[in-house]
Amino acid sequence: MQAILALDQGTTSSRAIVYDSHGGVLGAAQQGFEQHFPQPGWVEHDPGEIWQSQLAVAIQAVERAGLSRGDISALGLTNQRETTLLWDRQTGEPLHRAIVWQDRRTARLCEELRRDGQERLFRERTGLLLDPYFSGTKLRWLLDNIPGARRRAEAGELAFGTVDSWLIWQLTAGRLHVTDASNASRTLLCNIHEVEWDPELLAALDIPAAVLPEIIDSSGVCGTTACEGLPHGIPIAGVAGDQQAALYGQGCQEAGLAKCTYGTGAFLLMHTGDKPIPSANRLLTTVAWRIDGRTDYALEGSVFIAGAVVQWLRDGLGLIRSSDEIEALARQVPDTGGVYLVPAFAGLGAPHWDPDARGILVGMTRGTERPHIARAALESVAFQATEVIGAMEIDAGMAVKQLRVDGGASTNNLLMQFQADLLGAPVARPADTEATAAGAAALAARGVGLNGSSPARDEHLTRFDPQLSRYEVEQRMGVWHRAVARAGGWARE
Ligand code: G3P
Repeated sequence: MQAILALDQGTTSSRAIVYDSHGGVLGAAQQGFEQHFPQPGWVEHDPGEIWQSQLAVAIQAVERAGLSRGDISALGLTNQRETTLLWDRQTGEPLHRAIVWQDRRTARLCEELRRDGQERLFRERTGLLLDPYFSGTKLRWLLDNIPGARRRAEAGELAFGTVDSWLIWQLTAGRLHVTDASNASRTLLCNIHEVEWDPELLAALDIPAAVLPEIIDSSGVCGTTACEGLPHGIPIAGVAGDQQAALYGQGCQEAGLAKCTYGTGAFLLMHTGDKPIPSANRLLTTVAWRIDGRTDYALEGSVFIAGAVVQWLRDGLGLIRSSDEIEALARQVPDTGGVYLVPAFAGLGAPHWDPDARGILVGMTRGTERPHIARAALESVAFQATEVIGAMEIDAGMAVKQLRVDGGASTNNLLMQFQADLLGAPVARPADTEATAAGAAALAARGVGLNGSSPARDEHLTRFDPQLSRYEVEQRMGVWHRAVARAGGWARE
């Protein structure tokens, strides 16, 4: 038996899946954990809970798989990215709750840095924007606000890490302080051309180098498990941020291949080869992974509200009782009857990056009914993803030939068909829509020299081919853009 244990530490839950050598699932477990919102716009996680929930599901998944000690050949790890932790190197005690990627507390600091003309430097070196999303300003906040932290960090007593670093630290009982290249690229501190911490960026954010982890490859053995609860000595052989792991797991391993994960939001990544492509359309340039010293890159755009729009119809409006009712409701009508919903509930992400945009519902008539709104909500997810892909195609100078999809909402056939229609390219969904964990497992398998099986093998794909005429698509996209323009800047006016 050559099983791979994949740990997938997400924003709202920790998951573990044990795969056999053909990518078949032998056992899985999942556990949610508490979200802390200490102030408006602030989001925190308890680091102890992140680790304990992840360990608990790992143990459960191994038990459910019915494996014995020596059966696990490797461990792969993937994680919510950018979330920022700081802990004591001696005791392993966190100094604060983790500041989650969604947390906006450093918005003013980002604004100041932009005003000082620093954005260009950060953009060129890191491929990112000066936005509170990323770890760098969150770490600065911790060093500035925890009494004594900066002095202790300078003295080398503290360790900073994203969730991958924290979990590897725990898995190895404090022996390793590392982060993989894909996670490092989300910190605002890493020069993505060299994949090294950048002294100028550290100086601009006033971060002492002594807190930083070592940057490692995304595939290859970096250490072995030594924690209580799991068998000791399992090679930790694959590590990547969750969106990059999904890109790998979807088999998007050459330039021009793209994936979209439809979760609460939607994360689109396009593999662009071994050179970082700067974006002229406010997308992010990011490390996809580094393997055997070769760095692959991707363009990334995120849509803030995707599956969350369905939750809003359910919890906010009471239009449906459970999320899976939406497809049947939307199918009761052949089209939205001219209704457009722009779900800019949290502003708009790529390519607009407009924090002041707000949601709007337009085009209603006396004949508008629940199914029209349900259909407009589903369509809004595809419209937003299409805008991001359009920006990617311009930046990369190549067309997306096929979009691989995964995540909860990818099981919605109506949405996937409309996505293919708008893109004018096929959408392909693997049988296993857990591409993130599968990607971590595949990276780990490769790291120990096994054949990593990808869940996106062609024979397992469900394909949606475009059916709408280009004329109709252009006309619909045109109306969508008008609606987006009305949503733009709403909270500012
Ligand atoms: O960049 C944030 C992303 O990595 C979070 O992913 O799946 O935990 O919402 P998820």
